[in-house]
Amino acid sequence: YVRIAISFGLAALLLTLSCDNICNLNIEPNQISSVSLQLFINNEWQDAVSKRSFPTINPATGEVICQVAEADKADVDKAVKAAREAFRFGSPWRRMDASDRGLLLSRLADAIERDTAYLAELETLDNGKPYAVSYRVDVPMVVKCLRYCAGWADKWEGKTIPIDGDFFCYTRHEPIGVCGQIIPWNFPLLMQAWKLGPALATGNTVVMKVAEQTPLTALYVASLIKEVGFPPGVVNILPGMGPSAGSAIASHMDVDKVAFTGSTEVGHLIQQASGSSNLKKVTLELGGKSPNIIMSDANMAEAVEQSHFALFFNQGQCCCAGSRTYVQDTIYDEFMERSVERAKSRVVGDPFNMKTEQGPQVDEQQFKKILGYISSGKREGAKLMCGGGVAADRGYFIQPTIFGDVQDGMTIAREEIFGPVMQILKFKTLEEVVERANDTKYGLAAAVFTKDIDKAHYISSGIRAGTVWINCYNVFGAQAPFGGYKYSGNGRELGEYGLDNYTEVKTVTIKVPQKNS
Ligand SMILES: *[C@@H]1O[C@H](CO)[C@@H](O)[C@H](O)[C@H]1NC(C)=O
Ligand SMILES: *[C@@H]1O[C@H](CO)[C@@H](O)[C@H](O)[C@H]1NC(C)=O
Repeated sequence: YVRIAISFGLAALLLTLSCDNICNLNIEPNQISSVSLQLFINNEWQDAVSKRSFPTINPATGEVICQVAEADKADVDKAVKAAREAFRFGSPWRRMDASDRGLLLSRLADAIERDTAYLAELETLDNGKPYAVSYRVDVPMVVKCLRYCAGWADKWEGKTIPIDGDFFCYTRHEPIGVCGQIIPWNFPLLMQAWKLGPALATGNTVVMKVAEQTPLTALYVASLIKEVGFPPGVVNILPGMGPSAGSAIASHMDVDKVAFTGSTEVGHLIQQASGSSNLKKVTLELGGKSPNIIMSDANMAEAVEQSHFALFFNQGQCCCAGSRTYVQDTIYDEFMERSVERAKSRVVGDPFNMKTEQGPQVDEQQFKKILGYISSGKREGAKLMCGGGVAADRGYFIQPTIFGDVQDGMTIAREEIFGPVMQILKFKTLEEVVERANDTKYGLAAAVFTKDIDKAHYISSGIRAGTVWINCYNVFGAQAPFGGYKYSGNGRELGEYGLDNYTEVKTVTIKVPQKNS
């Protein structure tokens, strides 16, 4: 990592000095790459129709990194037109062999892997997550996700169906069409891959709106999409704001499906926009308030460390964060003491320092919102065990914070905080904790720590959530579906189920004469 680390100072300098239309970053001493800061439509870089742009901010300093073109409705219209044309029956994309579609996705994975250091650097600069995590977790997971989806492209099979009568009946698994995809800022690259992989493997075309907080890596990936040879219009990438660009996608009459990851509030708006436009298909991956249950027989050291990871990973900015830690009464005091010790030792600071575990929150708005939740916790009578304040004099850093004696009805136990604030609650019995864990509008994830297989089964079947982890947390694989019950969403991403949600099923029935006539 040494060589990479040395280039950081220079990279940041170059970036602030040279951001006009192109951002130059020095990845390797002899290799300069660039990010175009315009909209990516029909494999071309274009200014916004309005000529507007917006600043993207380095959350570690609060300073502007560069200006990025800002898409709104007029640009969405152009991108949808390009995606529609690319999807036209008989177009190069529609006629491409499924195996070649898979090959393009594999080549995209290869190009991303080649540029891992650069992408990780850019992600950290724009989002604030530790470079060590961008480099070792985010980018490798992107590569794996795309390779997994690439493998599906020519294995996406229909069925032959024995209907009554002299007919041959089969199904074709066809792409849905033009897919609008709206992705969040907490895992910019990874959420881009989760959306692009399944959509492209199954032959759709895409208009993607990327979050205004973190547009840079998505734009760099756009240049790789062009480099590896995707036909024009198959993928269009638009940085922009939710109320303008996002809403234009959700209500567009010529978009066949919209996939959104973000807040439950916006999820409602997207579902409504579909209902009042063309009934486009909607998949949603929304908020959570996931219970993490620690039984008294759990391995204490493991449970403490994993619960810490469950909440604090990614600055607490995970939709599946284990944000209600239920601890059985007999081990509550010891668990609390050790969790506080662990939180106090968490390394917060410069995200480019390889020892850093926690960088800044993504922006000022999130930063203030989290501090507001911390005040509400104190006001409503939870016990502040550690942290509770700002962790640096510039940038959006918050101290790892733990609240004890949290009651189910408190705001910090009900609402998604999306920050490094852990709620620890006490329980007595298994039956009680399943009821309490379920008593939420959300249902994204849950976990249980126990050595008792019967308890693990009881909890994993009793809790209404799309993912249950047993003696682990935040374990993801491109092969396994992820998504929510209740207010946490609709549909699934990843795995075979995820590809299903980018597929229309067509039934074809052919009359088969039984004798020569
Ligand atoms: C949670 O699950 C338990 C056990 O399956 C059930 O009794 C309870 O009604 C559920 N509660 C909610 C709010 O879904
Ligand atoms: C997602 O796909 C599953 C099949 O795996 C289907 O049952 C479900 O209705 C789809 N959901 C959405 C929201 O498209």
